[in-house]
Amino acid sequence: MNPVIPMKSIVDRARIFARRAVRAWRYLRNKLTILWLRAKGCGIDWTAIIHPEAVFDLSGGKIRVGAHTSVDKGVIIRAMGGYIKIGSNCSVNAYSFLSGSGGLDIADCVMIASHVSIYASNHVVSDTTIPMNRQGMTMHGIVVRDDVWIGTGVRILDGVELAPGCVIAAGAVVTQSTHPFTINGGVPARIIGYRLSSGPSRLTELPTSLL
Ligand SMILES: CC(C)(COP(=O)(O)OP(=O)(O)OC[C@H]1O[C@@H](n2cnc3c(N)ncnc32)[C@H](O)[C@@H]1OP(=O)(O)O)[C@@H](O)C(=O)NCCC(=O)NCCS
Repeated sequence: MNPVIPMKSIVDRARIFARRAVRAWRYLRNKLTILWLRAKGCGIDWTAIIHPEAVFDLSGGKIRVGAHTSVDKGVIIRAMGGYIKIGSNCSVNAYSFLSGSGGLDIADCVMIASHVSIYASNHVVSDTTIPMNRQGMTMHGIVVRDDVWIGTGVRILDGVELAPGCVIAAGAVVTQSTHPFTINGGVPARIIGYRLSSGPSRLTELPTSLL
């Protein structure tokens, strides 16, 4: 006699199967995305997690993404003849835009929230007799050190270096380099706080090796 399998058990098994199938499909889709990007010439680590709707545009430059770094939906990474290097264990959230004309170097454990713009170039605007789009560009490059958190909607302009451990508050426009473990916000960004809750609480009390 056939044992009676309760309906609930069939539904539970179907759910588990569906969950596993989705996980397997996502895993495969991620590997195929990386394979395709590597074939295009991007140096993406096999352990990275790349959303298939992220755009990687080499445009004559170089793009590198390190181990366990995730790049979310709608992110645009455009080398523009320069380079963009993102280290390991970083996250780039949805709809952020990274432009690397003058070189963009992002270290490890950096969190980039959604809708962030990082532009490693500027237009020259000093001559009023010819259109700005014919005056060329300046390109100094941008460096983001380890363990930086960049909040949503932040704009980072060319030539700045974000120091290790600093926070950039939501909506800030960063025009100057930052100090380690500081919290920076506003337009243009200024120090609005310090991460260190114990020990040195002011910038002058930080070990000089960190400044
Ligand atoms: C920077 C941040 C972490 C500070 O958080 P917090 O320590 O809780 O700060 P508080 O809310 O206590 O505010 C401290 C001061 O900073 C100011 N401040 C906070 N956020 C600010 C911002 N985004 N821009 C400008 N000033 C800001 C506050 O007005 C306050 O100023 P006051 O002391 O003169 O009143 C937080 O405001 C922020 O911007 N988080 C980013 C969120 C985000 O992007 N999430 C995406 C997930 S990846």
